[in-house]
Amino acid sequence: MNRRIFLTRVAAVVGATLAGRALAESNHSGHTMSSNQSMNESMNNMDHSMHGMNKNQGGMHCMNEQKLLPTSALPQGLPLPSFKPLVNQSTQAGVFEAELRAAPVKVELTSSLTTEFWAYNDSVPGPAIEVFEGDLVKITVKNDLPQETTVHWHGLPVPPEHDGNPQDAIPVGGSRVYTFKIPEGCAGTYWYHPHGHNTVAEQVYRGLAGTFIVRSKQDPLAALPEQNWLISDLKLAENGQIADNSMMDWMNGREGQFALINGAYRPKIEVKETTRVRLWNANSGRYLNLNLMDFDAMLVGTDGGLLEKPHAIDSLFLSPGERAEVVLTPKNTGSVSLISMAYDRGKMGPKFIEQDLILAELSLTQVNAATLPATLRTLPDFGNPTAFKKLEYTETMEMGKGMSGMKFMINGKMHDMNRIDLTSKVGEVEEWTIFNNSHMDHNFHIHGTQFLVIDHELNGHKRAPEYVGLKDTINLKPYETIRIKIVQEMKGIRMYHCHILEHETIGMMGQLNVI
Ligand code: C2O
Ligand code: CU
Ligand code: CU
Repeated sequence: MNRRIFLTRVAAVVGATLAGRALAESNHSGHTMSSNQSMNESMNNMDHSMHGMNKNQGGMHCMNEQKLLPTSALPQGLPLPSFKPLVNQSTQAGVFEAELRAAPVKVELTSSLTTEFWAYNDSVPGPAIEVFEGDLVKITVKNDLPQETTVHWHGLPVPPEHDGNPQDAIPVGGSRVYTFKIPEGCAGTYWYHPHGHNTVAEQVYRGLAGTFIVRSKQDPLAALPEQNWLISDLKLAENGQIADNSMMDWMNGREGQFALINGAYRPKIEVKETTRVRLWNANSGRYLNLNLMDFDAMLVGTDGGLLEKPHAIDSLFLSPGERAEVVLTPKNTGSVSLISMAYDRGKMGPKFIEQDLILAELSLTQVNAATLPATLRTLPDFGNPTAFKKLEYTETMEMGKGMSGMKFMINGKMHDMNRIDLTSKVGEVEEWTIFNNSHMDHNFHIHGTQFLVIDHELNGHKRAPEYVGLKDTINLKPYETIRIKIVQEMKGIRMYHCHILEHETIGMMGQLNVI
């Protein structure tokens, strides 16, 4: 394989002192699992079949973490980078045409640290795509990676054959054109990332992902200045190269020692007026629970675009894959940390105490909040469901068998590219009941459409969602059940899965055939 190497200086990706949590979770000193005991305890607490669990067995060694680069290796406090745009090559009105080339690239993170990433157009994060509703998009993807790939347009109503299904791999050295029309009404905050068979986790953690914004010509918030905060994960081994996934990463979802915003480690972000901020949780496994107490914060949009009306919040929870739009007005002037508050998602293995994580340094200027329109849009309601489906998430762990002993399943099955799990009819309103029958959080994502959450049920307690918005990804706590209303409008195969990328990649994914 011809790996073309480029030297690019990215004024991004930065760092310094260890976040307590990053240290705790990255097993920085090369965890030896001396805590087999706590491992046993937590494993025994699981309601799952546990065969061959033997702490004297060699199988445990594969859970060791490799040594990681100290977070002091990257500078922090540099200005928040803005994205490199994907430039429209078309001169025709209403057409967006461009090329994305996925390839290895050497990035000089500091003058003494050069790291090989896999990137779109040599850029980490990938170039930012911005189009308008009604546009025709034609993107040629060239695969110069050492393995097959596809590009998936997460959250967008793209025809299945152009949505990067694992069945439609672009071979090494090959290319293909993705063509799709952006329908009216889907203005919102999306992203793109690979979706090849068994390779999603690795291709994303090596750097392949970018933002995709759809704009409306009648945007009720058009007057506000905007910022983009793409939160992604970077795990660097001691030698400064991207670390492989450990066994714990595969089990729990990868969480590296660096939480990046727009590719920068703990950048400095200035907010000096009422600002519309688009947020992406582009992490493999890390959950975000942002503390927004320093702001007058209004949630104005979810995965599929604007809410009906602004909804006041003081924190924002985003599981991997989810996006949000918030309007932030600083309440004070000064410097504070942007913090993702500790959230216990029931990870397996040694019991860590989850800790707050610093994502950035905020430099705030107090201003009076801008008045937002009372109504942002009218959401569809879909009407009454006439078809019903049930999904159940389960896990089994057989210790001592390495990865093959680890099973994350939907309805008792792991993903099979050649199997159709469910069938739906074009245009039929369906109600899906999704039950997380496991002891850890998983989320649910489906391709090709946006859904509405009907309710959540946990410990016999049913509740309506806090706000109504279009979603393509939603979290489920352990033993939580959610019901959603969903309609697919195009024929073909759609993937649905947990968006903790390791779980998806191992097989917590199913296939819906829309007929
Ligand atoms: Cu981000 Cu299958 O999706
Ligand atoms: Cu998707
Ligand atoms: Cu999962």
